[in-house]
This record gives sequence, structure tokens and C-alpha cells, in this order.
Amino acid sequence: MKKKATIVSFEGIDGCGKSTQAKQFVRYLKSKGFKTLFFKEPGTTALGKKLRKILLAKKQDILPLSELFLYLAARNELVTKKIKPCLNKKVILVFDRFIDSTIAYQGYGRGISLNLIENMHSVILNGIIPDITFVIDAPASELRKVIGKDADRLEKSIKFQEMVRRGYLKIAENEPKRVKIIKRGSINETFQSIQKLWQEFFE
Ligand SMILES: Nc1ncnc2c1ncn2[C@@H]1O[C@H](COP(=O)(O)OP(=O)(O)O)[C@@H](O)[C@H]1O
Ligand SMILES: [Mg+2]
Repeated sequence: MKKKATIVSFEGIDGCGKSTQAKQFVRYLKSKGFKTLFFKEPGTTALGKKLRKILLAKKQDILPLSELFLYLAARNELVTKKIKPCLNKKVILVFDRFIDSTIAYQGYGRGISLNLIENMHSVILNGIIPDITFVIDAPASELRKVIGKDADRLEKSIKFQEMVRRGYLKIAENEPKRVKIIKRGSINETFQSIQKLWQEFFE
């Protein structure tokens, strides 16, 4: 089976603007007449939606490895049921978070072995990786979406997000052809940088 689809993913720490940019990107592609599909991880399949609720319930205490398995269970459903069937179609698949979130959060953030994540990914993905990935980069202290009540929690949260951010930068360093770091400016400036890189990639 020859792959005709193009896979694009949006990545970055919480509140950096992934969803904003991914949605604008889909609108842009549609206006150009491309067929697009939008995926939000986790939560595009029936099981994924249930797992999303569990994973995003802040009060629940989940061990890092358990968290990894839940994300990967959702990904396995998504890749097998939704992604593989459309790879031979001429369509652009746009992801709001995908494999690099796992590497950055569970790997670099929670300290789970990168080798373990890579091995599990290779079983689930079977070579399916994004053709191009946009990481929207900004210091965690500038993104005030995850503000805790007390300074202590805020500080801890910023430290964790900074570790994840460094993870993303490391991924981009390892795979400069696929992974593009976009410096976060205004919504429009950010989108223009993405559009420029997309045109260079696609043409
Ligand atoms: N470049 C930007 N500059 C200022 N505010 C932004 C920018 N991008 C997104 N926002 C705002 O920041 C918030 C988080 O954006 P969102 O796209 O949901 O981030 P993410 O999906 O990465 O968590 C939203 O209220 C959004 O309108
Ligand atoms: Mg989002």
C-alpha cells in the first residue's frame, strides 16, 4: 500500500496555542481545497474519549507508567481504526498532539525510559510518523493556563512544563527535518511562520 496521505502534527506545552493553530491550519487547507481530517489526542475513538476523561481528571492520582499505558491504549485504537484506513487516500491528517507529546511529557517530563516509549511506539505505529511537526515554543512562565492556587504549585507546574519544553527542543534537535520549532508570537505571527514552513515543505 502506498502512502498518499500527509500527516501534520501540532505540539508544545500546555497553553502554547496548539489547538488555536491546528484549527486555523485546517481552515487554511480547506480554503485551498484540500481534503483534511482533524484528530485530537487522546479522544478521537470511543475508548480514547473515555481515557481522555480519566487522564484529564486532575484529582485522579495516576502513576507515570499507568499514564503512559493509557495514552498508548488510546493511540493504538486511533492508529489502527482511524489512521491506517485513510493512509492510501489523498488527504491531510492534522493532529492536535501526537507521538511527540508522549516522548516530551512521559519521557522527558516524567522520566520514563525513552527506549521503552520508542519500542512501544514502533509496535503501535508500524512506521507511521508525522511528515511534519510544528512545535510552538514559549517559556512556561509566559503561559498562565495552569495556574495553581498557591505559589508552590505554580512553581512546580512551571518547572515540569519547562522540562517538557526542553524535551520538545531535544526532539527537534534529533529530527530537524521533521520537527520545526515555531517561536510563539501573536496568533497571526505564529500562523504566518507555520504557513511559511508548510509551503516550503509541501511545494
Ligand atoms: N499566539 C498567541 N498569543 C496569545 N494568546 C494565544 C496565542 N495562541 C493561543 N492563545 C490563547 O491562549 C489560550 C490557549 O490556547 P490553545 O490553543 O488552547 O493552547 P493549547 O491547545 O496549546 O493548550 C487560548 O485562550 C488562546 O486563545
Ligand atoms: Mg489544546
